[in-house]
Amino acid sequence: MTPGPTDHKKASYGVDAPAFFPLALLGLMVTLIAGIASRRPGPLIGAAVLLGSIGFFLHTTRRGKFLVWRELIDGLRLHGDERILDLGCGRGAVLLSAARRLTTGHAVGVDIWSRTDQSGNSPRTAKENSEIEGVQDRVALTTADMTALPFPAATFDVVVSNVAIHNIRGLRRRLVAVDEAVRILRPGGRLLIADLRSTGAYVTRLESIGMVNVQRRGLGWRMWWGGPWGTTRLVTARKAA
Ligand SMILES: C[S@@+](CC[C@H](N)C(=O)[O-])C[C@H]1O[C@@H](n2cnc3c(N)ncnc32)[C@H](O)[C@@H]1O
Repeated sequence: MTPGPTDHKKASYGVDAPAFFPLALLGLMVTLIAGIASRRPGPLIGAAVLLGSIGFFLHTTRRGKFLVWRELIDGLRLHGDERILDLGCGRGAVLLSAARRLTTGHAVGVDIWSRTDQSGNSPRTAKENSEIEGVQDRVALTTADMTALPFPAATFDVVVSNVAIHNIRGLRRRLVAVDEAVRILRPGGRLLIADLRSTGAYVTRLESIGMVNVQRRGLGWRMWWGGPWGTTRLVTARKAA
């Protein structure tokens, strides 16, 4: 069965970067008050931009990413017996979407469960979501830092990651996470990383360590773009067979 966005109603996936909302609302109030008090258009234009940003952000985190990743996972044409790893799985938005395409395969989510990066983030919430989605028999959750994955080399057929690697401080450590993703991929395995920053550096690294079919592209208006947070781009690659 192909899941639709409404299938996600019962499970609860929170919001990414929850600090964005209080900050944006504060900015909205300040610019509105400044606009009304000064009777000048500048602050009111700022308020309109902030309001639009809040709406856009809500759309990307509550709906857009589910639609985009559903298409990306469909595009993998999985057989159902794959072993899939989600780096920084959070409450399971991508992990559980992938798990629904599996029959005998397994989807493993790795995370450090940062509540700064996603609201209500915890292994318990992710496990509850897997039960609500009816895929708990195919899902395993592991608490680990993605720069030091507790798996042997060549364990997974597919590695995915959605807006998670940029949360690691420093490009050097982010590239360690990319190296780890490649290490645990089996030859011929596929890698999909969507991220807000450093995606050009991921491409350079992947090419330099022998990954093939390395590509980068934008993910359009359904994922976050613009402003100081960066623009979501997808990096895909395959491990040489
Ligand atoms: C913005 S959330 C996205 C979660 C999920 N991929 C999604 O799309 O809903 C980023 C996730 O990366 C995780 N994370 C950040 N740094 C990490 C690290 N070094 N190792 C593992 N997970 C990490 C956070 O705990 C959080 O769950």
